[in-house]
Amino acid sequence: MNFIHNNSIDRKIRIENEKFNNRWINLNKFVCYQSISKNHLDFDNFDSTEFMVVWFKNIDRLIKMLPSKLDFYEYSLLDVGCGSGISTLYFLQNYQFKSYLGFDKSKYLICNAEKNKEIFFKGKDPSSKIKFEVCDATNFKINQKSIVFMFNPFGLKTMEKFFFNNLNFLKKSSSYFLYANDLCISSIAQYGTILARDNIYNLSCIKF
Ligand SMILES: C[S@@+](CC[C@H](N)C(=O)[O-])C[C@H]1O[C@@H](n2cnc3c(N)ncnc32)[C@H](O)[C@@H]1O
Repeated sequence: MNFIHNNSIDRKIRIENEKFNNRWINLNKFVCYQSISKNHLDFDNFDSTEFMVVWFKNIDRLIKMLPSKLDFYEYSLLDVGCGSGISTLYFLQNYQFKSYLGFDKSKYLICNAEKNKEIFFKGKDPSSKIKFEVCDATNFKINQKSIVFMFNPFGLKTMEKFFFNNLNFLKKSSSYFLYANDLCISSIAQYGTILARDNIYNLSCIKF
């Protein structure tokens, strides 16, 4: 299957999405929200992409691609390559999952994700529902029925290793995959059923 990647998103759309992001980031006073080149992060970058925060409206668009009657509370939200945790916190604020786990290969970014969690909970006891950890996707093993979210964290080599380790469990548990800036979609579509694809914003939703 070959999916076309849209490389020319309209300037007006870009501005509108960035404005929406900036509003929520500034409201919460989050730290570490600006893009960081992979060469400036604390890991060997192999096929990793640079750090940047997803457009939150793309999270909303992906959520709308899931079956309308899905009970989110039966699922854990797994943010693969969560960066400074802002995408995971956006899910927490807006969608009621059973739990939320974000992991990233960069210690520096996970340290900032912990800071953002503290900022989000404003010094109150942070919810034990949300956790961040340092891990490489190559070694991560999923053990909960999940909605797996990725915002283009790495290339096909790492993607294949991640699915090699997790596909059986994802299928057995009837999990879902929400993929933003879905550069590897043509190769990984075979892992499940594509429920929806947005070829303007490059978004896909797969049921395993
Ligand atoms: C495009 S950023 C997305 C960050 C976050 N999801 C957000 O929207 O704010 C991709 C992230 O994937 C992380 N990453 C890259 N390769 C990884 C790997 N092999 N294992 C875990 N995380 C990885 C990077 O450090 C980076 O933070």
